[in-house]
Amino acid sequence: MIVLRTLKQLHQYVAGKKQIGKQIGFVPTMGFLHAGHVSLIHLCNHQADITIASIYVNPSQFNDSNDFHKYPKDETKDLKLLKANFCDAVLIPTQAEIEKIKKVSVDLGQLDKVMEGKFRPNHFQGVIEIVYRLFSVVLPDKAFFGEKDFQQLQVIKRMVEKLKLPVEIISAPILREENGLAMSSRNSRLSPKARDSAGFIFKALKCFNKSDRRLLEEQLFESGFELDYLEVHQFGNEKRLFIAGMYDGVRLIDNIKLN
Ligand code: PAJ
Repeated sequence: MIVLRTLKQLHQYVAGKKQIGKQIGFVPTMGFLHAGHVSLIHLCNHQADITIASIYVNPSQFNDSNDFHKYPKDETKDLKLLKANFCDAVLIPTQAEIEKIKKVSVDLGQLDKVMEGKFRPNHFQGVIEIVYRLFSVVLPDKAFFGEKDFQQLQVIKRMVEKLKLPVEIISAPILREENGLAMSSRNSRLSPKARDSAGFIFKALKCFNKSDRRLLEEQLFESGFELDYLEVHQFGNEKRLFIAGMYDGVRLIDNIKLN
């Protein structure tokens, strides 16, 4: 596996692969990788000739600077995990390298006004900014995103559609810990006790249809979950239930398909 830290190294690598007709698959991440990220690498390995991952904690998508500074990092462990899972190349750019790349903004309409858009002002414009920048240098044929961040997935699809980018967006199901907690790099900031008991979030999602909403919200509150939202939204023909809130000082999100 090759580690690329500059745009020059990346251009050389990508041009070489394109020249010999290889299809490039891309998995953007913010690092501190877990099995959810690895599932995207596996999907990419199966669906493209070359797998390029990126690790970059993008400051412009954090509306809370404390959350940005506390974002967990472990490059050595990440590199080991990527290599062991047959990733071909990983881009780890500095902020200075990223800022050399042109950026765009896209009108996200309603998508930017609900759920994460509403609770994290400018978050999705930050996501658009970095994903566009990464796409324009990695030049992927396919890019892979998790349903864990379902609204982000819709935002990226919208960007690709609006800007007519020549990349296919492929989504992957949510990987969960044994107790049902959706895997997330942020889970490492939960205390062991809280991480153990956080399975109640997924349980609440699963019984949403069968229980009284007020009772469910009360149960979440009693478990120590400070709810931001618990909402049903329809995207295309998919109806999903979304939850977000603070638990043990960490902001967690999750969702399930209802239909
Ligand atoms: P990050 O949170 O590191 O996630 C990288 C990718 O892994 C995203 O597509 C995310 O949806 C996926 N992912 C995370 N947890 C998952 C899980 N439990 N199961 C399946 N997939 C999971 O999302 C970002 O980074 C950033 O916003 C990024 C797109 C890299 C832009 O900065």
